[in-house]
Amino acid sequence: MELIRLSYRSVRKPTTSDDIVINGIVMPSIRRNAREDVTGCLWCGPTRFFQTLEGPREGVERIYADIERDPRHTDVELLELRPIDIRSFERFSMKLIRARESDEIGRLVDATRPPGAADAAPEPRRRTAMQAIIDILIGAPAERMP
Ligand SMILES: Cc1cc2nc3c(=O)[nH]c(=O)nc-3n(C[C@H](O)[C@H](O)[C@H](O)COP(=O)(O)O)c2cc1C
Repeated sequence: MELIRLSYRSVRKPTTSDDIVINGIVMPSIRRNAREDVTGCLWCGPTRFFQTLEGPREGVERIYADIERDPRHTDVELLELRPIDIRSFERFSMKLIRARESDEIGRLVDATRPPGAADAAPEPRRRTAMQAIIDILIGAPAERMP
């Protein structure tokens, strides 16, 4: 079975409150991701999202197709989709990380360009930058769920 990792960023709508993020997005995601054998992490900033999904290709792509159409955010940009050997968030159907002040992840997410963008870094550097974001997310404390 092919495992993939998919990461994207998007713009959080001002109407998408913290309550909507937790109860409307993350709680149902935990259930659906578990059904699809998908794990991952959602970084939630005041105005942006960054998310990594990992698991079997079909499940990840099915979920991402719904995410792309979700009206609670806009400007969904795929940053990376690649095969992986092992998962980074195997303990989490969806790990939620909320931005702290002077959040390093926010700056890294801002600096990332989608593959093929005119000002994108060369592929090896892009890949290293993506891994740097994911490594920080792995180490960051998860938000406690209600
Ligand atoms: C930023 C963001 C992240 C999301 N992440 C997930 C996710 O990891 N898994 C998931 O099933 N749905 C996620 N969703 C919700 C989907 O867009 C969609 O609402 C949901 O999958 C619909 O599921 P349903 O058809 O079972 O109701 C996310 C939505 C947003 C806005």
